[in-house]
Amino acid sequence: MNLFEVYPLFEITPERGLGCRLFDNQGHQYLDLYGGHAVVSVGHSHPHYIKRITDQLNLLGFYSNAVINPRQLELADKLGIASGYDNYELFLVNSGAEANENALKLASFTNKKSQVVAFQGGFHGRTAGALAVTDNEKLRAPINSSEHVTILPLNDLDRVETAFKENEISAVIIEGVQGIAGINVPDPNFLQHLRRLCDKHGALLILDEIQSGYGRTGKFFAHQYANIKPDIITMAKGMGNGFPIGGVLIKPELQAIYGQLGTTFGGNHLACCAALAVLEIMESENLVAQANKVGNYLHDKLSEISAIKEIRGQGLMIGLDLGTSVKRLRNHLLFEERIFVGSSSDPHILRLLPPLCLTTLEADQFIESLNRSLENEQLFID
Ligand SMILES: Cc1ncc(COP(=O)(O)O)c(C=O)c1O
Repeated sequence: MNLFEVYPLFEITPERGLGCRLFDNQGHQYLDLYGGHAVVSVGHSHPHYIKRITDQLNLLGFYSNAVINPRQLELADKLGIASGYDNYELFLVNSGAEANENALKLASFTNKKSQVVAFQGGFHGRTAGALAVTDNEKLRAPINSSEHVTILPLNDLDRVETAFKENEISAVIIEGVQGIAGINVPDPNFLQHLRRLCDKHGALLILDEIQSGYGRTGKFFAHQYANIKPDIITMAKGMGNGFPIGGVLIKPELQAIYGQLGTTFGGNHLACCAALAVLEIMESENLVAQANKVGNYLHDKLSEISAIKEIRGQGLMIGLDLGTSVKRLRNHLLFEERIFVGSSSDPHILRLLPPLCLTTLEADQFIESLNRSLENEQLFID
C-alpha cells in the first residue's frame, strides 16, 4: 500500500532527537528551530518525559472517560497553577482542531446563537467547525460551510463593532498570535475591545492558543500580554511535546450538560502523563522565562541583520520578513547548514518555533548559519 500523499516532504529521515537537536538516519545532526511545528516544547527525548510516560504505560495505558482518572485531576491542578487559570475547568481532547471544534460548539450551546467572528489570516484546524472559521477558502470542501462565519481584518475595531450590530454573535475566535499567517500579533487594545464587545453582547471570547500558548511567547498564554481573560482558551501542540493531546479551558460560569461534549481517547492516562511531564519540566527548568530570555536575545541579534525587513512576534514565536521569497533560504541554504526552520502562508516570512529549551549558544549557531546563507548571492532565486 502507498501512503496517501498529503505533504511535500523534506529529504530527511530523523531517527533520534535530543533537546533542540535532531539526528537523521545518515548520522547528520540538525538544529531544530521548527520544533515539529511548535510542538516540541520541552525538547526531544527529555529523560523525565520518557520516564513519566513509560512508568504510566507499565501501570495502565488507557481506560475510558467513564471512570475516574487521577492523572486528569493532577493535570487540571498543575495546568491551573502554571497558567494562572486555576478557577477554570478543563476538557481534554486529542488535537488543536478538536479543541476549537468543542470551544465553538460549547459557545453555541451556551448562548444558543450561531454566528461567529473570525479573522483574516486565522488558522484554527481542519475539522468542519474549525475550518469554517479558518481564513483559507482552498481548504474548505463544499461540505465545510462557513455560512455562520464573518471573517474580518485583524485589529479592525470598527468592522468588529459593525458585525456585532448586524448579527447575533455567538463567539469571537482569535489566535493569541497568528502563526500560520506569518506571526501577526493582535494589538492588546484590540483584544481588550473584543473582551468588552463580547461582554456587552453576550458572546463568548475564544482564544486559540494552540500555537502561541504553553510558554512559547514568554508568557504562559500570549493573550496574557493584553491582561484579558477569555471565556474559553484552546491549546494543543506544546501541551504534550509530541504526544497527541489538546485542551479546552472553560470559565467556571459555563456549565456542561452531560452528553453534549465527549471523546474516546481525549485525556487518556498516557496523554495526561505526557502533559504532566511537560509542565513539570517547564517548571523545573524555568522554560517560560527561558523562552522570554532567549527570544529577546534572538530579537537583538536578528535586528543587526540588514536583509531582515521586520522581526515579528514575542519570545520563541518569531517571524522574519525577508521582503522576498524565503523558499530557497529555508529549503536549501539553511537546510544545507543543517538548520530546520518553518515557513508560513506568507512566502516572505520565515518562522522560528524552536523548543523552549533553546540556549543562547544554539541561537548564536543559527545566527551564524543565517548570516552565511544570506551572503549567498543565489538567495533570491527560487
Ligand atoms: C493556531 C492553530 N489552531 C489550530 C491548529 C490545528 O491543530 P491540529 O493540527 O492539532 O488539529 C493549528 C495547527 O497548526 C494552529 O496553528
